[in-house]
Amino acid sequence: MFRSLKLLGVAALATVGLASGVQAADDTRIAVAMPEAAARNLRLEMVDNLRALAEIQSLLAAGKVAEAGPVAEKSLGIGAMGRHRSEPMDARPGAHMPPEMHAIGVEGHRAASEFARVAATGERDPALSALTGIYNHCVACHSIYRIR
Ligand code: HEC
Repeated sequence: MFRSLKLLGVAALATVGLASGVQAADDTRIAVAMPEAAARNLRLEMVDNLRALAEIQSLLAAGKVAEAGPVAEKSLGIGAMGRHRSEPMDARPGAHMPPEMHAIGVEGHRAASEFARVAATGERDPALSALTGIYNHCVACHSIYRIR
């Protein structure tokens, strides 16, 4: 599921974070400073990530497995990476991420493209497993980083 040992470590860290329960009072996430424009773009993109996952999940539930692939590829896959590339530096979220955080983001896009590949087979169980691969990156990054 994870392509590198480093990410496996990240996932383990995320699990520890979740197991102990992330509470406001003992928020141990790393604070990443980001200009307001980049933070706004990041949040809007995140809301769309969640929308895409909900759409994917409901397609899987309806047995429309092959249709879920293109949704993942378009909204979350490698092709969805670098959407803010042509914007000024202070509006580009990726440019303000520490390398480890950025790597989780890139691997998350890869996981979505992998999901799309698996979903194209039309087999639901492997697709569900690949969907977990996407979620793991959402959880890993959120468990480790915050921007406010
Ligand atoms: C590379 C890191 C990273 C990845 C991967 C990531 N997120 Fe986020 N996400 C963030 C950060 C940072 C925030 C802002 C947290 C804060 O406000 O401090 C955020 C915020 C959010 C929010 C709240 C948006 C708002 O309006 O405040 C949602 C919803 C969200 N993410 C969904 C997702 C989903 C779903 C995925 C997986 C498909 C995902 N994220 C993957 C870093 C990430």
